[in-house]
Amino acid sequence: MKFFIDTANLDEIRKAMDWGVLDGVTTNPTLLGKEVEKTHRKPNDILKDICELVPGSVSAEGISLDTDGIVKEGEELAKIHPNICIKVPMTPEGVKAIRILRSKGIKVNTTLVFSCNQALIAAKAGTNYISPFIGRLDDIGQNGMELISEIIIMLENYDFDTEVLVASVRHPLHVVEATQLGADICTIPFKVLNLMFKHPLTDKGIKSFLKDWERAKEFMPR
Ligand code: E4P
Repeated sequence: MKFFIDTANLDEIRKAMDWGVLDGVTTNPTLLGKEVEKTHRKPNDILKDICELVPGSVSAEGISLDTDGIVKEGEELAKIHPNICIKVPMTPEGVKAIRILRSKGIKVNTTLVFSCNQALIAAKAGTNYISPFIGRLDDIGQNGMELISEIIIMLENYDFDTEVLVASVRHPLHVVEATQLGADICTIPFKVLNLMFKHPLTDKGIKSFLKDWERAKEFMPR
């Protein structure tokens, strides 16, 4: 499974890069907007820095809703770096934009996917990634992980090349469940990535190994 980080915060991205487990980044207008607010920097400059930090796919999203606007913004964003992948919303106008962007050699991540039918349409349009937002489905009482399972079966049945990018991940169990279903990618918030390291028995084990070694040192020949 590939790990993407779901943030536009450079410190978080640097830390995850240092761990050596990062394959890519996803941003959205909310995440990028937060960093613009904090740093007063231009959004495209932040995206450029992200691309220079991470040698993998970096999803960037515009704000247009009509096909021409989505394509135009996508083309501009794609100029920032070859690893930029354009997030396109799952709408009829967005689906038209997927085909056009793909025909120009620009990678596409179809975002805000909440049903298997939407995923099928995006795959047929030639999207590279499909992003089902599982946490937002859980929030309204639907099982987000069931959607991941349906989409994986659908893509396998028809041999699509599209990758499933599990998005709106809220906790480590979401990641575990995604691995059991064989999802290609999880985009994980920094907080959740951090939690994935933790287990109280690991901390307890380290403490007792160190304590036992300290005691043994008293008996070591000098
Ligand atoms: C994915 O690409 C989105 O940026 C993200 O996962 C949305 O998650 P949220 O539902 O926590 O906002």
